[in-house]
Amino acid sequence: MAEFKVAPADASTGEKLLTWVDNRFPASKLYKEHLSEYYAPKNFNFWYFFGSLAMLVLVIQIVTGIFLVMHYKPDSAQAFASVEYIMRDVPWGWLIRYMHSTGASSFFVVVYLHMFRGLLYGSYRKPRELVWIFGCAIFLCLMAEAFMGYLLPWGQMSFWGAQVIVNLFAAVPFVGNDLALLIRGDYVVGDATLNRFFSFHVIAVPLVLLGLVVAHIIALHEVGSNNPDGVEIKAKKDALGRPLDGIPFHPYYTVHDMLGVGVFLMVFSAIIFFSPELGGYFLEYNNFIPADPLKTPLHIAPVWYFTPFYSMLRATTDDMLLAFDAVVVLAALAAIVRGRFSSAVKLGIAALAFAALACFGAFKFTGLAVFAGFDAKFWGVVVMGGAVIILFFLPWLDHSPVKSIRYRPDWHKYLYAVFVVFFFVLGYLGIQPPSAIGTLVAQVGTLYYFGFFLLMPWWSRLGTFKTVPDRVTFHPH
Ligand code: HEM
Repeated sequence: MAEFKVAPADASTGEKLLTWVDNRFPASKLYKEHLSEYYAPKNFNFWYFFGSLAMLVLVIQIVTGIFLVMHYKPDSAQAFASVEYIMRDVPWGWLIRYMHSTGASSFFVVVYLHMFRGLLYGSYRKPRELVWIFGCAIFLCLMAEAFMGYLLPWGQMSFWGAQVIVNLFAAVPFVGNDLALLIRGDYVVGDATLNRFFSFHVIAVPLVLLGLVVAHIIALHEVGSNNPDGVEIKAKKDALGRPLDGIPFHPYYTVHDMLGVGVFLMVFSAIIFFSPELGGYFLEYNNFIPADPLKTPLHIAPVWYFTPFYSMLRATTDDMLLAFDAVVVLAALAAIVRGRFSSAVKLGIAALAFAALACFGAFKFTGLAVFAGFDAKFWGVVVMGGAVIILFFLPWLDHSPVKSIRYRPDWHKYLYAVFVVFFFVLGYLGIQPPSAIGTLVAQVGTLYYFGFFLLMPWWSRLGTFKTVPDRVTFHPH
């Protein structure tokens, strides 16, 4: 046990109280370690707003969620009407609900930008691999949270969107149908589904999400923040052990982040007060019609933040699988021949590539009933899930000698730019009804997405890199 501190006789009541607390709980220690003596690089730019904004949105979602639950009824016969009741009769209910629905989309905008910042500056690389992995787990939880939340208003899109997505689980060979049944709690999406999604949405997933965010921040503060130059500030310290290029997070970045919060709240309020549906992107028009299991909407599309991945699912046709196999084989070859992996990892990569090929070949050429489950629909689900799972491996895929995009060859920047363009195009196509040309473009986009990551061990080392400075570049303004 740490030694008991005694407050000086002339200390104020506040100081005495703090000493009393500190003797029982590390309040001052935590404050120092995570705020006043957490040294962050002095060259943060606007990309570093999004971490604190993600925390702000998380708080908004939890607080508005608590108030929504006070009036919402998780019952398929009452859910839709209870949401209308919140919108029309509950005092300020419309504001709370629009804050929550706009918050959901804002969460994804903020988190996508936050992740992209990590990609730009190589923030996922040693020693921040765990920060990144916790982040990817957060992203998965966020997707589950949003998907289950969307069922709750029990509109047409809630119902049919859930129907489509839960049915995807049925594509898993051998256990798929049982899995889908377990998720639904019924043979069709119904009251049982609504009840379990409600329970997961309001308690189970938020708990995990909060735990992961705490782990994310603890891991980050253990190793320290990266910065736009990708220079480790801990490498150069003063006599007191403080990084020469670091400034205390509080007050410097708490004040800095307020600018981000201000701009964010302006945009957030503008959407809530002037266009809460945002042209059907934040709240789909079909969801203002109560769920009707007997009337399938003409066009079922997920909310915008899922559409890049949904596009990849739809792009996975039989023909596409052949092209996809080629990318997997190329990537495996590149990793084995050129990658800086240990022989055990190389063996693992070869085994995985071989297993994928064998499953596909068995389905395509043997016609055996036992392989019937490995059809394009199944691979579509694998591709969609794989698009998220591959992010976890990014720290080990990037073999570039520098972290930040600033010091990479120019053509790397073009690869990143095309990646972003394809991500948007995939997102757009996922909202549109399927078409021949749309499918083709989505296939090219999907191949680019996977090629970008799978071939990264090879391309990330190529080209002429600029010299990384010893100290961060910083121009006071
Ligand atoms: C609820 C969601 C999230 C919250 C509240 C959150 C919060 C934060 C905060 C406060 C920081 C430090 C400030 C900053 O660098 O912007 C941070 C850093 C970081 N986050 Fe997140 N984050 C979330 C999701 C994610 C996701 C989904 C990823 C990636 C998949 C991610 C990856 C990172 C990385 C790599 C850093 C270190 C950045 C650097 O030092 O350059 N985070 N996060």
